[in-house]
Amino acid sequence: GTGKFFVGGNWKCNGTKESITKLVSDLNSAKLEADVDVVVAPPFIYIDQVKNTLNARIEISGQNSWVGKGGAFTGEISVEQLNDIGCKWVILGHSERRHIIGEDDQFIGKKAAYALSQGLGVIACVGEKLEERESGKTFDVCFQQLKAFADAVPSWENVVIAYEPVWAIGTGKVATPIQAQEVHVALRDWLRKNVSAEVASKTRIIYGGSVNGGNSAELSKQEDIDGFLVGGASLKGPEFATIVNSVT
Ligand code: G3H
Repeated sequence: GTGKFFVGGNWKCNGTKESITKLVSDLNSAKLEADVDVVVAPPFIYIDQVKNTLNARIEISGQNSWVGKGGAFTGEISVEQLNDIGCKWVILGHSERRHIIGEDDQFIGKKAAYALSQGLGVIACVGEKLEERESGKTFDVCFQQLKAFADAVPSWENVVIAYEPVWAIGTGKVATPIQAQEVHVALRDWLRKNVSAEVASKTRIIYGGSVNGGNSAELSKQEDIDGFLVGGASLKGPEFATIVNSVT
């Protein structure tokens, strides 16, 4: 692996004040390995609740951000606001925003550049759909999405790449360790050839898609898997802790 292991919990559009109170309390009482960066991404409206109750050992991420400075953009949340509320990260380019909401590469690249310019770390997501994998386009799709980030960001210092094959997200159909490693190493090679050897060796590449407490240890043994972005299983405190601790 490269650098410190990184595990993010993306709560997506789930939770209530009550369920989040319970989740935070479970996370606060879990024992988490010291040598892992742990981040959770609550829905925007619960970030303040989480910030005020969650142990500061766990950092907080937004699930999205507006593409530029805040202002007259109804329904959006700005990077300035994420900073103000105490977020350290933002997830950008998640497949649900690409394929359900319709965000494109260029828009996502601009968001990443703006977030970084304001000091927020970016969890930059890439990943192919099932039909793209089946037609042999996995690398092309992932490289194109990665290139859009590369073309936009001035520095990779505050970026974590998340490889999330769309067919594995929320399906219970996790990529095999070999399948994930194959793409992670290809992404790292792409960075080496197109950005720099230093960025390739220092940038963490995490895997997402049906990660759970039962499969994380095997995945984490792969050399180029530097952590996870966890959806469903991050809604259960003890299981999320198991995933965090699956790396030793
Ligand atoms: O951001 C997280 C990913 O979309 C994975 O979601 O663990 O529910 O498959 P999942």
